[in-house]
Amino acid sequence: MRHVPVLLNEVLENLQLKNGSNVIDCTLGDAGHAEKILELIGPNGKLLGIDVDAEAILRTKQFLYKFDKRVVFARDNFENLEKIVKEKKFENITGILMDYGWSSPQFEERGRGFSFLKTDEPLDMRYDTYLKCMHEVSNPPMSIDGKPLYGPCSAAELLDLKDYGGLEEMFRKYGEESLSKEIAQAIVEKRKDYTIESVGDLVNIVLQVYRKKLKTDKEIPWIGGLHPATKVFQALRIAVNDELGVIERVLPQAIEVLQSGGRLVTITFHSIEDSIVKHYFKSQNNKTINIITKKPVICSEEERENNPRARSAKLRVVEKI
Ligand SMILES: C[S@@+](CC[C@H](N)C(=O)[O-])C[C@H]1O[C@@H](n2cnc3c(N)ncnc32)[C@H](O)[C@@H]1O
Repeated sequence: MRHVPVLLNEVLENLQLKNGSNVIDCTLGDAGHAEKILELIGPNGKLLGIDVDAEAILRTKQFLYKFDKRVVFARDNFENLEKIVKEKKFENITGILMDYGWSSPQFEERGRGFSFLKTDEPLDMRYDTYLKCMHEVSNPPMSIDGKPLYGPCSAAELLDLKDYGGLEEMFRKYGEESLSKEIAQAIVEKRKDYTIESVGDLVNIVLQVYRKKLKTDKEIPWIGGLHPATKVFQALRIAVNDELGVIERVLPQAIEVLQSGGRLVTITFHSIEDSIVKHYFKSQNNKTINIITKKPVICSEEERENNPRARSAKLRVVEKI
């Protein structure tokens, strides 16, 4: 299933695309936004498409082959934006898009452990498949001072490395999980007996904690329509990929590489991400940028009905002075 791009018309409008525009898509995903951008900037405009997931880059080639040399691909982390732009000699940049988080195929198809419903998958959660491969070829993963040698570790490794305080803080800060203490304690206890390796291992621990707290024996004690593992999985995914850190580091670089009058469009999916973007834009307003969207743009009723992922999306736009 191809990822459905969120707020597509709003993105295209705000990037003010025309023939000859050069645009960077920092989160290529399934190239839903990129494909439309390339149509609107033709026949002369170019797109630099970045994604840290090698499978995403391979997959988008089938959607973008028709644009031939007008697309430049970079399998890299967008936190290296200035370096990538230099390496690819990508110039006169009039627009940048960042659509944070995961794409539907990553969540549904790739055996990465992002979804708490796929209980037999390994708990990996790294967008960066290169790091995953490097771990697999050196098995057990090489380490210095107990930390994996090849950068960020998997979700399973993180659950093993963090102490009680680290686990509790992660669930509380990145997931706003109300049972962060109980869940952290349960993980510390369980990992004395076995390694928490699969999605099912973690989901079972969370369910046990919730059943005990709510004094129920329901298999899944849904909480206001949410699966009890929702927030724990969000927190773990954010921590594994340092999702907040990369946003903090890329925003100044994006403003730097844009040409004067160029636009940066961001789409966030939860309040912690959105507040980082909002505060950075505020701090730079009337200095390096002008804020175009005083309030974040949200999706229409129609999009809300057709694409559940769009429900939490917030789009913000700034223009470089
Ligand atoms: C929401 S999807 C983008 C969907 C895309 N706009 C589309 O229309 O198909 C986000 C993508 O960003 C990628 N990603 C997440 N964090 C990244 C990072 N730090 N650097 C580069 N790519 C990243 C993910 O691998 C994923 O493919």
